[in-house]
Amino acid sequence: MLTSMPIASSQTIQFLRRGEVVTLNNVPPTRTLLEVLREDLGFTGTKEGCGEGDCGACTVVLGEADGDQLTFKAVNSCIRMAHSVHGLALWTVEDLSAANAASQHPAQEAMVQCHASQCGFCTPGFVMSLFGMYQNHVLQGRPITRELAQTELSGNLCRCTGYRPILDAAQQMADYPSVRLDHTSINRQLAEIQPQAPDANSLYQLPGTLAALLTARAAQPKAQLVAGCTDVGLWVTKMHKQFDAVIDVSRVAELRRIEQQGGNLVIGAAATLHDAFTALLKSWPELKTFATRFAGLPVRNSGTLGGNVANGSPIGDSMPLLIALKSRIVLASLRGEREIPLEDFYTGYRQNLLAADEVVAFVKVPTSSVQTSLLRAYKISKRYDDDISAVCLVLNLTLDGDLVRDISIGAGGVAATPVRARQTEAALRGQPWSQASVQAAMQTLRAEFEPISDMRASSSYRLQVLGNLLQRFWLESQGEQHINLEAFKLEALS
Ligand SMILES: Cc1cc2nc3c(=O)[nH]c(=O)nc-3n(C[C@H](O)[C@H](O)[C@H](O)COP(=O)(O)OP(=O)(O)OC[C@H]3O[C@@H](n4cnc5c(N)ncnc54)[C@H](O)[C@@H]3O)c2cc1C
Ligand code: FES
Ligand code: FES
Repeated sequence: MLTSMPIASSQTIQFLRRGEVVTLNNVPPTRTLLEVLREDLGFTGTKEGCGEGDCGACTVVLGEADGDQLTFKAVNSCIRMAHSVHGLALWTVEDLSAANAASQHPAQEAMVQCHASQCGFCTPGFVMSLFGMYQNHVLQGRPITRELAQTELSGNLCRCTGYRPILDAAQQMADYPSVRLDHTSINRQLAEIQPQAPDANSLYQLPGTLAALLTARAAQPKAQLVAGCTDVGLWVTKMHKQFDAVIDVSRVAELRRIEQQGGNLVIGAAATLHDAFTALLKSWPELKTFATRFAGLPVRNSGTLGGNVANGSPIGDSMPLLIALKSRIVLASLRGEREIPLEDFYTGYRQNLLAADEVVAFVKVPTSSVQTSLLRAYKISKRYDDDISAVCLVLNLTLDGDLVRDISIGAGGVAATPVRARQTEAALRGQPWSQASVQAAMQTLRAEFEPISDMRASSSYRLQVLGNLLQRFWLESQGEQHINLEAFKLEALS
C-alpha cells in the first residue's frame, strides 16, 4: 500500500499476478480492487468509468483453483472489495501480452485487426472480457458464436466504435495461434497462499466454512455481510459508505455448492448468479433469455443468488422467479436452521426476517413440477441488456386437462417487496384455462398491487404491463411462441 488509510486491517491480502504473489497489508475493508490496482499499485491500464458495475471499463479476470484446473471469471474491479481476491489469481490488461511476450494475446490482436477500438477507453475492459471468453470457450474447443459474444460482452459498453467490429474480434480470436496458461504451475502457486486465519478482531473476514461463517456472524452481528458486492459495492462507491468490519461469505464452501437433493435443487447462497442460473437452466431451459438479461456477465460472475434474495430489492429479478417456482430459503445461525417460503421472508421495503446472527444459507427450488408446468419469466426494462426491471412477472402454470390445477405467480416492481400474486392465483385456480378466465384474472392482477411511480416507470404503466404480460402468457400457452419481441421492447420504452 502506498497511501495511508484511516482504518487499518489486520489481515494480509495475497493474490497471484504475473507468476508472483502480491502481498498487501493494512488494506481497509472497503478499499476496492480498482483503487488498489490504480492508486496503490500504479497499474492504470484498468479504467474507471461509471464506478457502479455498468460500463465494464474496469473489467479484470480472476482465476480460482478448481481441482487441478482453474476457473476464470471476468469481474468488475470497481465494485469488488480488494480483500475478496485473497488466494486468487488476477489478470489485468497489462498482463496479457506478458503471457506470450513475443506478441499480443489473441484477444488484443483480434481487437486490432478488426479495428475494434477508437478512443480506447472501453478497450481494456473489452479485452479482459474477451480474455475470459478465450479461456472459457476458445481453449475448451467451443466456438464463439455471435449470440455468445453478445451475451458475454453485454456488461461492456462502447460509446465510439460500435459493437460490430468488437463482436467480430470475439469470433476471430480463435484464428490466432493459441496461448495457454500453465494451470499446474498457477495452481501450485495458489496452493502456497494460506487462507486467512479466522480472527474475530479482523476487519475483513473471509471464512471458508459455514461453521466459521456462523461463528464470525455471532461474534460480529454488526459487521457488514457481503457476498459478490454487486449491491454493497455501490453503497461504497456511490453512497460513500464505510464499514468498520466486513464478513464476506463468498468463499464458504458449503454455500457455493449447488446440489440436487431429493425433489429440490439446493443452491448455496454464495453460488454466483451465473452458476445458479446455469443450474436452473438444466431444469428450465426456457429461462435462458431471462437469465442472460440479469445484469451483464461480470456482475453475474461476482453477484450471488443469496445476495439478490437477502438484498430484497422490490425490483430484483430472481425473487419473482424463485417465488413462482415455490422456493424456500434456509436461514442458518449457530442456533440452528429454519426454512421458510421465500415470499414470507420479506416484511417491508428491504426488510426481512433475518436475525442479527443469521445468514441466508440455501435456496431450495422444488424440481418436481419440471415436466408438468408451463413456466415463463418476463422482464420489462428500458434497455434490453444489463438493465433493472421496471416490472418482472413470472408465471408457473400446471393444467389438468383444460382446468388450472395450479398456478404460482411471482412479481417484481409492483410493491415494496418482491411478491406473490395470491389473489390472481386464487382467481385462476380450478378455472378453465380460457381467454375469458385470463381476462378476468388480468383485472384481478391489476387490482392486486399498488405500484409506485419512479424513474423506471409510472404506476399506471406498471399496472398496464402486469395485465398485458398475463395476456402474453395466455397467448404463449396457446402456441403463440413467435410473439414479436421487438414490439414488447417498444412497449417497454413507450
Ligand atoms: C450493473 C448492475 C446490474 C444489475 N442488474 C441486476 C438485474 O438485472 N437484476 C437484479 O435483480 N439485480 C441486478 N443487480 C443487483 C445485484 O447484482 C444483485 O442484487 C446481486 O444478486 C447481489 O448479490 P451480491 O452477492 O453481489 O450481494 P452483495 O452486494 O454482496 O450483498 C447484497 C445484500 O445481501 C446481503 N447478503 C449477501 N449474502 C448474504 C447471505 N448469504 N446472507 C445474508 N445476507 C446476505 C448483504 O449483507 C447485502 O445487504 C445489478 C447490479 C449491478 C451493479
Ligand atoms: S467502472 Fe464501470 S463497471 Fe466498473
Ligand atoms: S472506443 Fe471509445 S468507448 Fe469504446
